Amino acid sequence: MRSLAAFMALVVMAAALPARAEAPVRLMAETCLACHSPELHSTIPTLAGRPAGDLLRLLLAFRDGSRAATIMDRIAKGYSREELGAIAGELAGKGERP
Ligand code: HEC
Repeated sequence: MRSLAAFMALVVMAAALPARAEAPVRLMAETCLACHSPELHSTIPTLAGRPAGDLLRLLLAFRDGSRAATIMDRIAKGYSREELGAIAGELAGKGERP
């Protein structure tokens, strides 16, 4: 029984492997849309479809404290520069800004 469970765990891990490279970026970007979705009709700006360079510049400014923020400074500090660049690229690729 133990070996069957171990085998099944290996099968599950192997199935997840090919998606590892891109899934985390997509998942990281999805968390942003919890607040930045146009469907919320809030005052929080929409991000989808905006140029990646603009988004990255804003995120780095939040991270180094040069842009005032209530929450984004703390969120941006949770990611490396590379991760922020990847997230910005993912959001930029999400189609036209509504
Ligand atoms: C808890 C809600 C919340 C989440 C989650 C969130 N944001 Fe924000 N974001 C805000 C708010 C609020 C602002 C306005 C600045 C502030 O008060 O911090 C903002 C501002 C921004 C801006 C500046 C937009 C502009 O035009 O001025 C960018 C870029 C941004 N967020 C990117 C992101 C990214 C990328 C993520 C995911 C990693 C993310 N945000 C996750 C709430 C959120």
